[in-house]
Amino acid sequence: MKLYEVVFSPTGGTQKVADRLAQSLSGEIVPVDLTDHTLAFASIALTPDDVAVLAVPSYGGRVPAPVVERLAALHGNGARAVLVCVYGNRAYEDTLAELQDTAKQAGFRPIAAVAAVAEHSIARQFAAGRPDAQDAQQLAAFAAQTRGKLTAGSAAEPQIPGNRPYQKAGGAGMVPKPTKACVRCGACAKTCPVQAISADDPKKVNAKACISCMRCVSICPHDARKVNPLLLSAAGLMLKKVCAQRKDNELFLA
Ligand SMILES: Cc1cc2nc3c(=O)[nH]c(=O)nc-3n(C[C@H](O)[C@H](O)[C@H](O)COP(=O)(O)O)c2cc1C
Ligand code: SF4
Ligand code: SF4
Repeated sequence: MKLYEVVFSPTGGTQKVADRLAQSLSGEIVPVDLTDHTLAFASIALTPDDVAVLAVPSYGGRVPAPVVERLAALHGNGARAVLVCVYGNRAYEDTLAELQDTAKQAGFRPIAAVAAVAEHSIARQFAAGRPDAQDAQQLAAFAAQTRGKLTAGSAAEPQIPGNRPYQKAGGAGMVPKPTKACVRCGACAKTCPVQAISADDPKKVNAKACISCMRCVSICPHDARKVNPLLLSAAGLMLKKVCAQRKDNELFLA
């Protein structure tokens, strides 16, 4: 049995959660990076004995659109899957339901689902530092319960929250732009999950293609890529109330 760790994590929060879960499940880990647009996703085929951790961030309560496409191209071939949605302490709405449908369409059998909190990748003052020690403990306990179900050979599908049809997807509308500090090193263009930044001129961005994932902001070695500060503070004000209280991680197993 192999453990496929299939993750879309532009700024690292989803990866941290997936790592904590995967490390506590057994099996040789095969990483699949869904942010890597050069990967041939359709050539990745699992077997019914394999297990997959499928981990995505919640964007506006949905699975980011390019991720749906990349996940749907995989060949699950009956492998059991642990679905993971990571959100920034606001809400995840229909993300797990959409992930469940996408995973099944790709041939996976969902046997568990986790909703977990990580630092908000746009407004980083919310859920700052999460997943923290308390989250780590909770995620290890979730993994132990999931391992129990896997060892028992169960493929029963759990009750997973979410609406169908899903709520309307809406872009965050925040397209980071380079500042004067940009030295045109090209690192952002290389790692943008959707190739929205021109490789020839990193100052040029395709605003329509950009999914506001904040990868370019977080990886720029010169701190030279920024979102409009007015938009950012407006988002902070909007989120202040809904993000104020710490939300717990959740496991859906039955
Ligand atoms: C475009 C966008 C939309 C987001 N929408 C939500 C949301 O609806 N609810 C929420 O709680 N967090 C939301 N977040 C926060 C992310 O889900 C959260 O920070 C996640 O950990 C980011 O994953 P990453 O660190 O792997 O990139 C959003 C972030 C981005 C970039
Ligand atoms: S990573 Fe930063 S410095 Fe390099 S091209 Fe992009 S914005 Fe400019
Ligand atoms: S340009 Fe947009 S999609 Fe590309 S890394 Fe930056 S925020 Fe993400």
